[in-house]
Amino acid sequence: MCVRVETEYWNEYQGAKTYATLMPLLKHYTDLQERVLALIGSDCIIGDFACGPGLFSMRCLGEGKRVFAVDKSKAMLDHFKDNVSWRGIFPTQLAIAQGDLKNIPLDDESVETAVCMNALYNNDDPRKIVLELVRVAKNQIIITGPKPSYDHDVLLESSKKDFRESELFYSHKDMISEFLEGNEKLKKYHMPALIEPDEVVSLLLENGCSSAEIKEDIYLGQGYLVVGLK
Ligand SMILES: C[S@@+](CC[C@H](N)C(=O)[O-])C[C@H]1O[C@@H](n2cnc3c(N)ncnc32)[C@H](O)[C@@H]1O
Repeated sequence: MCVRVETEYWNEYQGAKTYATLMPLLKHYTDLQERVLALIGSDCIIGDFACGPGLFSMRCLGEGKRVFAVDKSKAMLDHFKDNVSWRGIFPTQLAIAQGDLKNIPLDDESVETAVCMNALYNNDDPRKIVLELVRVAKNQIIITGPKPSYDHDVLLESSKKDFRESELFYSHKDMISEFLEGNEKLKKYHMPALIEPDEVVSLLLENGCSSAEIKEDIYLGQGYLVVGLK
């Protein structure tokens, strides 16, 4: 059984703030960011598609890359924009657009690497999104998501440990409790994923990639990472 969460879940502002504050405390999440960044290599123009509150976009900006960030959640993007102004990022380095990945608001081959982290599984038409990612990418496409065998409890237990060990544990106790409670509740919304990692690979190969493979396990073995090269 795999988790699929309705996209509307991400539209609530407090959710965006909690996500942006707490995800960077989780090792499985920061490890994923570093892994994706390493795969991006020297590519400079990055599409962060389903960027959420922009945690990965900001990591890319910190590496001197230019970022096109797209998400359909206004709440997530509002939070992202607030964070960006705090950190003094200039508009020439970053473009943020509200949009649906089924129709990415960019021309063909606009970005060198197209990244879509942990969002495909939310969608009822993930195949259309994969095709859009191929269309807008010049060099490569990196997609991550939960595996069919995804076990929510593995991540939840690891998250609890990371929170306990974080220096924000006491100052953010209420937010952490709310996050963990929310994650417990999410379990009842578990639904079969609508796309398997093998199918992501096939779609990439059939639609313009010269190679595509499942690179490795991520998220403590609960997630997958696929890379397609054009
Ligand atoms: C789990 S969050 C991941 C955020 C970010 N990629 C990260 O790893 O931190 C999922 C995000 O995907 C976005 N999303 C899901 N489906 C989308 C779609 N079809 N178009 C645009 N954004 C989408 C949601 O709004 C939400 O912000």
